[in-house]
Amino acid sequence: MAESLTESAVKRLVVLVSGSGSNLQALLDAVAEMGPAAYGAEIVAVGADRDGIEGLARAERAGLPTFVCRVKDHESREAWDAALTEVVASHEPDLVVSAGFMKLLGKEFLARYGGRLINNHPALLPSFPGTHAVRDALAYGVKVTGCTVHLVDDGVDTGPIIAQAVVEIRDEDDEDALKERIKEVERRVLVDVVGRIARNGYRIEGRKVVIL
Ligand code: GAR
Repeated sequence: MAESLTESAVKRLVVLVSGSGSNLQALLDAVAEMGPAAYGAEIVAVGADRDGIEGLARAERAGLPTFVCRVKDHESREAWDAALTEVVASHEPDLVVSAGFMKLLGKEFLARYGGRLINNHPALLPSFPGTHAVRDALAYGVKVTGCTVHLVDDGVDTGPIIAQAVVEIRDEDDEDALKERIKEVERRVLVDVVGRIARNGYRIEGRKVVIL
């Protein structure tokens, strides 16, 4: 599959969050420091599946439009997915970044944004998919873990991998300590990958993603 970004110089990003939004902040800082033209992208809106989170506060402080789309405000998961698709589409993104967004996206969302929907995950996929990746890695006793930036498909953390980085596990690590060390690495990887994809484009060859 060929890359599916438009040819416009500065790509439009919508970022989805569910929590503290430190990955969002890293993207905001990169755009602010380099400028949208040099970074290749700008964040045009930030969305969440819940209110009152630091991720939304970060977006508001940056002066960005925000939206909240909660599952419980909709009749069904499908209706929620359709509403989320619509509000995201209203911001006309070239790329959607799920940066700590803790909901599985549905059929309609994937039909519209599949192939340009990026997620970061705090483990070396395909090991430890799902919502408790850091806890699961610790419980298994692996000696290294890390982070993965990947395209989202209709499975749970199963889409084609764009980039990964390794984090060593220390004997004294608990879940919080390891989570924070992974986040330090994943913020750098996410900023790098999103910028390169926005500036250069990418190609999907089966399970392989090649940044051009
Ligand atoms: C990140 O570690 C991200 O990998 C993880 O949530 C954290 C969000 O942190 N995502 C998942 O676990 C998705 N399955 P942040 O809100 O500080 O950016």
